[in-house]
Amino acid sequence: MANVVVIGAQWGDEGKGKITDLLSNSADMVVRYQGGVNAGHTVVVKGQTFKLHLIPSGILYPSTECIIGSGTVIDPKVLIQELDQLDALHISTENLLISSTAHVTMPYHRLIDQASEERRGDHKIGTTKRGIGPTYADKSERTGIRMIDLMEPESLRKLLHWTVTHKNAVLEKLYDLPPLDPEAVIQEYLGYAERLRPHVVDSSLRIHEAIRQRRNILFEGAQGTLLDLDHGTYPYVTSSNPVAGGACVGAGVGPTMIDRVIGVAKAYTTRVGEGPFPTEQLNEMGELLRDRGAEFGTTTGRERRCGWFDGVIGRYAVRINGLDCLAITKLDVLDELAEIQVCVAYDLDGERCHELPTGARQFAQCRPVYKTLPGWQQSTADCRSLEDLPAAALNYLKFLAELMEVPIAIVSLGASRDQTIIVEDPIHGPKRALLYDRAQPIGLRGEATHSAAIRAIEV
Ligand code: IMP
Repeated sequence: MANVVVIGAQWGDEGKGKITDLLSNSADMVVRYQGGVNAGHTVVVKGQTFKLHLIPSGILYPSTECIIGSGTVIDPKVLIQELDQLDALHISTENLLISSTAHVTMPYHRLIDQASEERRGDHKIGTTKRGIGPTYADKSERTGIRMIDLMEPESLRKLLHWTVTHKNAVLEKLYDLPPLDPEAVIQEYLGYAERLRPHVVDSSLRIHEAIRQRRNILFEGAQGTLLDLDHGTYPYVTSSNPVAGGACVGAGVGPTMIDRVIGVAKAYTTRVGEGPFPTEQLNEMGELLRDRGAEFGTTTGRERRCGWFDGVIGRYAVRINGLDCLAITKLDVLDELAEIQVCVAYDLDGERCHELPTGARQFAQCRPVYKTLPGWQQSTADCRSLEDLPAAALNYLKFLAELMEVPIAIVSLGASRDQTIIVEDPIHGPKRALLYDRAQPIGLRGEATHSAAIRAIEV
């Protein structure tokens, strides 16, 4: 038995969908623990593309139980669209369970998200405008609507009447928007409730039962470490906790129940929305990465900002999540480059800086210090083992593992399931023993201390 958390180690969109899809093969249960329809997974199976926002991609395996956990926020309209999409493809959704304590995104949340972004002007976050922040804000303010409330029509009527009237004052007075009709909202959500009722359960209890039965559970994070509300690049973050610790809170399990934490990082970096991005390439290189990597948002279709791999945030992600290993995705996107840059440190006010600064102003002033590595200029798309990789590609991976002091367990070279190198089973293989090996140091690290290793790399 192994309970595994999979998280994004950058700013989201690392390709977690593909990795969780692969790992779901050996999972009995997949639990999504935070976020809402701001997320988007694209999974390609047998040439068919699935775009999912809320439902874990594990649903594609007939016997895997999928849970949308307590820490998520649920837009029932979108969730029902996803259920319909899967039904149309004859994919069973019987195994989908929804936490009764997850909060519900309401029409006023979406309106407030859109209106407040417009009001922010230069200070905008670049949200997905799906109402995520306002839904979590109401949760914290204790005026949220939960799935369990949807299940009780009479009390829901009273609750929604009061809440919609209260939110109308905000819409009208603060944002000059027309009010919502409380009765129309009540009718709409009562309809959603009936469709979703068969799926709503006490999810923490179901997860606990699965743990007692020694079933394998995969906890799937949405977004990424740098978008974490507490540990990300605040204020340019989402409103939940994508970090590994968020799995315990968002799923309702104790930390002692987690066996492994796997991070997913792209072989370069992307970011959607506003906020500093030290390795961003606002040039032809950025465009090349965007074109080759098809870097457009699954949810909003926005162009993703693209840049070189940032080892400082990579190391930070290893620390904040306690990563056991990494999956590196989209290595093939770098195939045609003659040289590849990796950020190994920042220059901040003339000082060399190896850790992510906690202040937004300081982070905005960080300039990347690069190490240039040779490219391999040949296709890796058909490589299926480390031995198949060109020497420079293997060298690049070893360099990343050394830099972040974390082993790489999986390498992904394309969207489909088979375009993958499993270096070592990330769930059942020995902990911390893949590619990066303390006993057999690779490359520049040797027995050097933490910061000395980085200094060596910079030379
Ligand atoms: P929100 O989550 O819609 O409030 O957006 C807050 C920030 O998180 C914005 O910069 C979004 O672009 C970013 N964001 C939210 N969800 C995702 C995601 O799934 N991938 C990448 N960025 C995301």
